Amino acid sequence: MKVAVIGSGVMGSGIAEVFAIYKNEVLLYDKYEEAIKKGLTNIKWSLEKLSEKRRINETPESILTRIQIIRSLEEVKGSELVIEAVPEDFNLKVSIFKEVEKNVDYSTMIATNTSSLPITELSMALNKRERFLGLHFFNPPVLMGLVEVIKGNYTSSEVFEKGIEIVKSIKKEPIPVRKDVIGFVVNRILFRVFTSACKLVSEGKYTVQEVDSAAKYTLGFPMGIFELLDYTGIDTNYLISKEVKSRGFNFDCPLINDLYTKGYLGTKVKKGFYDWSAGRPIIQKTSREPSPSEILGDAIDEAVWLIKNNVSTEDEINKATKLGLGWPKGILEYAKEINYV
Ligand code: 3HC
Repeated sequence: MKVAVIGSGVMGSGIAEVFAIYKNEVLLYDKYEEAIKKGLTNIKWSLEKLSEKRRINETPESILTRIQIIRSLEEVKGSELVIEAVPEDFNLKVSIFKEVEKNVDYSTMIATNTSSLPITELSMALNKRERFLGLHFFNPPVLMGLVEVIKGNYTSSEVFEKGIEIVKSIKKEPIPVRKDVIGFVVNRILFRVFTSACKLVSEGKYTVQEVDSAAKYTLGFPMGIFELLDYTGIDTNYLISKEVKSRGFNFDCPLINDLYTKGYLGTKVKKGFYDWSAGRPIIQKTSREPSPSEILGDAIDEAVWLIKNNVSTEDEINKATKLGLGWPKGILEYAKEINYV
């Protein structure tokens, strides 16, 4: 397939890498030369890592030949799928979709990797709305096994089914999101976890280290909760929280707002909740910790809401939280384990 990826940041470059690994011809666009350079550096580094670990059976150089940089949106012509992965700014995304639609065939599918904006609202930018869907990848796209496939009100069944097949073709697990709800499945749950963790710290009940100790050592998460906020980007989370709050979903964290104002944007600037200048922060086991239900209670309630509202099923939600976030157990498996009622 010929796939165009718009935006060469962490997500866009990771998505381009995944499609190239699975033999697709990839066009990668960014408006900023610096972002293209950084994106290509990330892809090369990641392919070298995968090669060292024998997780790819082709050389990085050979995979890279399938990624072509484009510097104008006119060059998306001929793509069968266009995936947008630019920052969470509604107007920016809409202007890109309008430009893309001018340059593609009637049959081209257009997808967004948005984390927080409604698919239906975004699709209104297009003349042919049935071609539009959400394909939501998780960071880092090359390692996380899940992609949420989201149906907007106008997405045709054919495009939705094709989205699921495309995700399978790049060896990821597709989770169908049947209703276009804010944050879809995984982020609705994750934003509750973020908000609970932030509240525990901002109210002075626990420290960042104590919350992350519970996340890593008691719950077995691959990263601490504040470590993950740094990893996914303080700026990204700030923009997401603004967008979802304006649409009535409460993802609220004064600690994030504060770091954002100071320019401590997480891993990318080597400073956020943690200092990343010497690499990944070391999270120590602390003697005092919040309980699993203090961290997960609201997220469990959210998972129940998703089931009651026919957005997803218990099995899908458990699978999605394991594959999308690398948790050893699904959110509703934790609920049973801790007898949360
Ligand atoms: N490509 C290739 N290799 C990579 C890589 C990448 N992009 N990123 C990390 N690696 C490598 C590391 O370099 C390391 O290699 P080494 O063994 O040679 O040193 C190896 O993978 C293992 O990495 P680490 O030792 O740092 O740590 P982990 O074993 O914890 O694995 C992880 C890293 C897969 C990122 C894991 O920590 C994880 O699953 N974290 C949770 C991530 C998560 O929750 N993502 C979803 C966020 S939410 C989201 O994206 C939605 C959005 O809308 C906000």
